[in-house]
Formats: sequence, structure tokens, C-alpha cells
Amino acid sequence: MNAVRIHETGGPEVLKYEELQDPKIENHEVLVKIESISVNFSDTLIRRGLYPYMPEFPAILGNEAAGKIVSVGGDVKGLSEGQKVIAFGYPSYATIVSVPGSRVIPIPESIDLDEAAALPIIYQTAYHMLHTVKRIKAGESVLVYAAAGGVGTAVIQLGKLAGIKMIGLTSTDEKAKEITAQGIDHVINYKTENVIERVLELTDGKGVDLILDCVGGPNFADNFKMMNTMGHLIWFGIAAGNPSTNLLAALGKEPAKSYAVSMFHLYAIINNPKLMAESFKTLIGYLAEGKIKPIIHDRIPLEEAGKAHDILEKHENIGKVLLKP
Ligand SMILES: NC(=O)c1ccc[n+]([C@@H]2O[C@H](COP(=O)([O-])OP(=O)(O)OC[C@H]3O[C@@H](n4cnc5c(N)ncnc54)[C@H](OP(=O)(O)O)[C@@H]3O)[C@@H](O)[C@H]2O)c1
Repeated sequence: MNAVRIHETGGPEVLKYEELQDPKIENHEVLVKIESISVNFSDTLIRRGLYPYMPEFPAILGNEAAGKIVSVGGDVKGLSEGQKVIAFGYPSYATIVSVPGSRVIPIPESIDLDEAAALPIIYQTAYHMLHTVKRIKAGESVLVYAAAGGVGTAVIQLGKLAGIKMIGLTSTDEKAKEITAQGIDHVINYKTENVIERVLELTDGKGVDLILDCVGGPNFADNFKMMNTMGHLIWFGIAAGNPSTNLLAALGKEPAKSYAVSMFHLYAIINNPKLMAESFKTLIGYLAEGKIKPIIHDRIPLEEAGKAHDILEKHENIGKVLLKP
């Protein structure tokens, strides 16, 4: 087999395409030949040594892929050779992987393997922020940071299904045009426009009911200037670093607004197999019915994984970048 591993943290050059021994499966595992691998922003954070959950080195990067089953361990029920599957929550930058049966999700034959590889992290994150943490209702409003990224485009598609009003932030007019075509209601270019003023203008001065913030950083408390009473702020990323806000002091400044703040990490769902199985069933159903469709920005050969990281780190992508073995 071939895999992309890191032996140390650093720039894209630390991603090494290596020949390794084929994995052998234990009774609880499944061997999957990978056809498509999804690249996530968190992979670049691990590569740079900035992620809260770092693997032991050398480490195969990645967390999600799709392919076909080669063989099934004796204790695994309900999976068979040749079946199309998603392998999730396991190192995935490889041509073949052995994965516990519990992390292998069968998908209908009709589903494209690139779209299947792109599905788990971005749609699970979007889905659970909207429906598990917030319990969003039709007619409510959402402000989503990085609206043209993987999670952002998943929020747009799931938000449309939920009947909510969506405002997105992005850095270029080209990205704004693309996501407008995807059906987002309003886009604000945060490089050229005053975000707080525009959000208040678009919500009749009230602010939004939900903010999905994957940027964090020093301006985190500005979110409270554009939130509706009893609005909810979900923090789910550190693109600009950890927020330096004294949150309790910020919340205490305007008690009558009664804001809620949550932090979301997908591991909370991965560690809850029942919740994860239910949402996979819903999302795979949506994909099979054409209600959602992952936006694929580019497909890059696995041996050139550094190029894929480069695209993400230069913020060039609209939707997902995939690696192809
Ligand atoms: N908590 C979780 O479980 C979870 C799960 C998935 C993803 N995430 C996090 O969510 C974020 C988005 O993920 P993704 O898959 O959508 O990533 P992505 O496709 O790589 O998109 C990231 C986008 O964020 C924007 N951005 C980056 N740095 C920024 C900054 N300093 N200020 C404002 N915007 C910035 C850029 O878009 P513009 O050019 O439009 O600004 C960039 O293209 C990542 O930070 C990721 O780590 C968290």
C-alpha cells in the first residue's frame, strides 16, 4: 500500500508519500480499498502541530474516505466484499485502510464515491450545529463564517432544507458569487464591508438567531453586537486563534439579551455512536435523493497531498478538495 505520512510537524513538505506493508485486518475490522479521500482544514492544523488532538508520529493523516470493501473480519456483521462504503474517523491518506467495522458506513450503489468521501465531517458538523446544539426553526436567521468553505457550503444546503435565512461571510467577490448561486440569502465580503452594520441592516436591527464562528481570535466578542435576544453563538474553529475574550464579562454586560454560547467539536458526535448513526442515515438519504450535493473544488493525486494543503491554506477552495489514490 501507499500512504501519506508525517514524521514531524511543518509545512506541506513534511507530507511524505511512502510505500508501507499492506494492512492486515483483525476480526473486528474491515479492509477498504480507497477511491477518494477528503482533505480537511484540521489536517493542515495537525501537520503544523496546532491541533488540540495530535497523533503519535509517524502518522498517516486524514479522517475520512470512501471506497470498496476488500475483506471483512469474522466478527463484523452486515458488511460484505465489494460494497461501497465510507470509512470515517480513521487515518485515510492511503490507498488501502483497515478500519474497525463500527467506523465503516455502507452507502447505496448509486452514490458517487467522491461525494461520499466529502460528506462526513462537513455535513455532520453543519447538521449537528444546526439541529442538535441549536435546534434551529424555519424562519430563524443564521450568520455563518467561512461560508464558501466545506462546512459553510454544507450549512447553506442544510439551511435551505430547514427553511432558515442565511447570511454568509467570505473574503472575495468570486466566492460570494459562487455561494449566492448555491442559494445563500446574503453574502458579506468581510474584507470590504462592515460586517456588524450589514448584519444589523439585513435583520432589521435585531441581529441573527444563530452565529456559526470557526474563526475565533481577538474579535470574537464582536459577535454579540449582531445577535438577536436569546441568540446562540456556536464556536467551532480557531482559524484566527483562540478567542481572547473574557466571555462571562461580555455576557454580563447585557444580561437582558440572554445570549447562549457553545463550543462544538465533532468528536462529541463521533463518541456518541447512536447520534452519529442517526445523522449518517439522514445525510446519506439526502445525498441519495439529491437534496444535498457536496461542492468539489478540486481532485489532486494522493502523492501530491502537499498541493491540496496549499489550496486550503491559501483559502482558494470553494467547497472540498479531494485526494485520489
Ligand atoms: N469543531 C469541529 O468539529 C469542526 C469540524 C469541521 C471543521 N471545523 C473548522 O471549521 C473551519 C472551516 O472548515 P472547512 O472544512 O469549511 O474549511 P475550509 O474549506 O478550508 O474553509 C476555510 C475558510 O475559512 C476562511 N478563513 C480562514 N482563515 C480565516 C480568518 N483568519 N478569518 C476569517 N476567515 C478565515 C477562508 O475563507 P474566506 O476566504 O472566505 O475567508 C477559508 O477558505 C476550520 O477552521 C475547521 O478546522 C471544525
